[in-house]
Amino acid sequence: MPAGNDRAVGIDDLSVYVPRLFLPLAGEFSTNRGIDPGKLIKGIGIERMAVPDLHEDAVTMAAMSLLDLMRRARLRPEEIGKIYVGTESSLDEAKAMGTYVIGMLEKIYGKGSFQECSTVEFKAACIGTTFALESLSFWAALEEEGKVGIVIASDVAKYPLASAGEYTQGAGSVALLVKKNPRLLALEQIYGSFTRNENDFFRPMGCTTAVVNGKHSNQCYLDAMQGAFDSFAARAVRKGAITPGKGECITDFIDHLLFHIPYPRMVEYASAAILRHDWRQSSRCSEIEMELGTEPQSLGYEDLGKYQAADADYVRRFAKSQKFLQAFEAKVRDTAMLSRQVGNIYTGSIYLGLASLLEMQKIHAGERLGFGAYGSGCSALFFSAIVQQQAGSVPLRGLVKRLQERRQISLHDYELLHGGLMEKSVVMPCKEFALVGIDHQGYRLYEYVE
Ligand code: HMG
Repeated sequence: MPAGNDRAVGIDDLSVYVPRLFLPLAGEFSTNRGIDPGKLIKGIGIERMAVPDLHEDAVTMAAMSLLDLMRRARLRPEEIGKIYVGTESSLDEAKAMGTYVIGMLEKIYGKGSFQECSTVEFKAACIGTTFALESLSFWAALEEEGKVGIVIASDVAKYPLASAGEYTQGAGSVALLVKKNPRLLALEQIYGSFTRNENDFFRPMGCTTAVVNGKHSNQCYLDAMQGAFDSFAARAVRKGAITPGKGECITDFIDHLLFHIPYPRMVEYASAAILRHDWRQSSRCSEIEMELGTEPQSLGYEDLGKYQAADADYVRRFAKSQKFLQAFEAKVRDTAMLSRQVGNIYTGSIYLGLASLLEMQKIHAGERLGFGAYGSGCSALFFSAIVQQQAGSVPLRGLVKRLQERRQISLHDYELLHGGLMEKSVVMPCKEFALVGIDHQGYRLYEYVE
């Protein structure tokens, strides 16, 4: 897709908000929970979890990422036609989160300044934001008054204390500016999807923490990703966007693979699954079999359990093969740079992966990005985008520095915040949106604190 093409629609800019507090996983946390820190840092891949302060929630974080995006892009409220919010941390069963966000932004831009902007919430676990982006991109393509759309991801990933999910928590928000002729990425508008009813991860009404069947959730993620990838591959070939020659695979035409990142090791599992699957079309498969031995075939096993164990062992060895490690290093590893310092931010995690590549200046004009989004329950969407000529002109965000400047908190303070027992903010709000109260009807009161 040529740059400067008015028919191109996609992501023009992106902004990230992460709370100012963090808990390191190695140290007090690992000792208290009786977990080897090596497991958390290497086995899971998270070093620090972002923790929202008392005055923060998914709504304040959404408002913060939007405010930053508007300031970066010098956007005026009347230029924004729609704000779609992807979240699974909604604080109201009826009222759209975006209305609270607009209320906050109007404290800066003036009352009524967003009144022609519509807003809606997308809930589909971690894939909500991606469905929002897909929908908004089709709206943006038809928009004729020069208005732009915003997609905001905002979540607090929360599991019970001392559970296996606890060390995969995190919090943050990403706001995406979606418009015609974008500076960063033009979407190719090829979406491969997969959906299946699952009990891998859910949060029944009234619960503040998610119910998760951990190992099953990993498997659902991988199954769905493979289904969505196949669906994408078939569509990309039908549309003529990708035309593999003899011995070539779909992923040969993708320069960076960005998967949903519940924890950094998961992108390694996902890329091993997708590359192993995709490479079956090429001679690489037999070269790898020469190194590792033949892939287990289900027909060769009487017992399904034994086949699954043999296959899991093969995948583990595949993930250590030279060919895989080269591809992982070139196309995937850097996407998890920020997630290691933040943890899971649910529906924004995949775009935190994009922010990692942008901050590390790893993407270049003309490259193709393949996004593998996943949401529990479960759905996956695989789609692609082309890096635009102007991508290098979009200012960086200084995210690494911002993350280094955060305040470390004690395990005790983290547990108080987690349980809703903290009485005052650890760091008093300053130049930010803050939750200042909840009235007798449950309506939430927010202010911009100077
Ligand atoms: P677990 O039982 O803590 O982990 O569960 P494990 O025992 O499987 O260990 C993980 C890895 O650490 C293994 O590596 C171990 O060997 C290694 P592997 O064998 O796979 O290569 N390990 C060590 N490494 C170095 N030094 C050591 C050591 N010990 C062990 N000493 C799990 C992990 C992720 C399941 C758990 O934390 C959990 O339930 N998390 C929440 C659910 C989740 O994140 N699921 C991911 C897929 S679902 C998803 O992505 C959707 C989601 O984002 C929500 C949404 O859609 O809204 C969650």
